[in-house]
Amino acid sequence: MRIISLLTQKGGSGKSTLSAAMAVEMQARGETVFLVDMDPQRSLATWAKGRSDRRLAGAAVGSERLAEVLATLRDRGVTLAVIDTPASLSAATDAAVAAADLIILPVRPTAFDIWSCEATWRRIRALGKDCAFVLNQCSSLQTSRRVRDSAAALEAMGGLLTPMITARVEYQDAILRGLGPTELDPHGPAADEIRRLCDSVRRRMALDRFHARATRQAA
Ligand SMILES: Nc1ncnc2c1ncn2[C@@H]1O[C@H](COP(=O)(O)OP(=O)(O)OP(=O)(O)O)[C@@H](O)[C@H]1O
Ligand SMILES: [Mg+2]
Repeated sequence: MRIISLLTQKGGSGKSTLSAAMAVEMQARGETVFLVDMDPQRSLATWAKGRSDRRLAGAAVGSERLAEVLATLRDRGVTLAVIDTPASLSAATDAAVAAADLIILPVRPTAFDIWSCEATWRRIRALGKDCAFVLNQCSSLQTSRRVRDSAAALEAMGGLLTPMITARVEYQDAILRGLGPTELDPHGPAADEIRRLCDSVRRRMALDRFHARATRQAA
């Protein structure tokens, strides 16, 4: 089982939105996904409960139970756990970092967001973990100087996943309906962004190689 944790000290960067969107697409690609919601707001667990397709399950989990829950998921054949965290640097986020194979930091392209994510980045590096950024809620003017400068700063720190995610109502509509953007409008631009983001995450985690090895071992 591989584990992705989404983390930012700043609230509202898109951790829960992107967790849900990527989980749906990863499940569609053959992963058995479980959503671990460590945020007391329980946004992601509530979204998972509201889905009519119950194959993608989720639960609220406190940091004290994280290790035990992950061990159970591994035993049950879950191949990908996505951990959503509260906006903080805390015992909960440290536990999510320690457990993860990859930590994703969604960041809006503003100075406040970039400054704030530096502390998170330093904490992750201190814990010896790999992390990557994703620029979220970008205006459709993605070539603006501000967005380009943000991308360069994040690329220099830990690496930037592709593509930049645009601010689109489809992300909000999908959450409201218990869907991912790839289910809401499979041919729409948000679905395309999420599919490309999942490609980028898979490359970063070498997930394709991981599955090929698991399949060979099972044969
Ligand atoms: N790409 C996007 N386009 C449009 N709206 C977005 C996008 N990403 C996130 N949002 C919206 O921004 C708000 C914050 O997103 P979300 O709740 O996912 O952030 P979060 O990092 O999980 O916040 P918190 O730290 O409070 O848990 C939500 O209203 C969500 O619908
Ligand atoms: Mg959230």
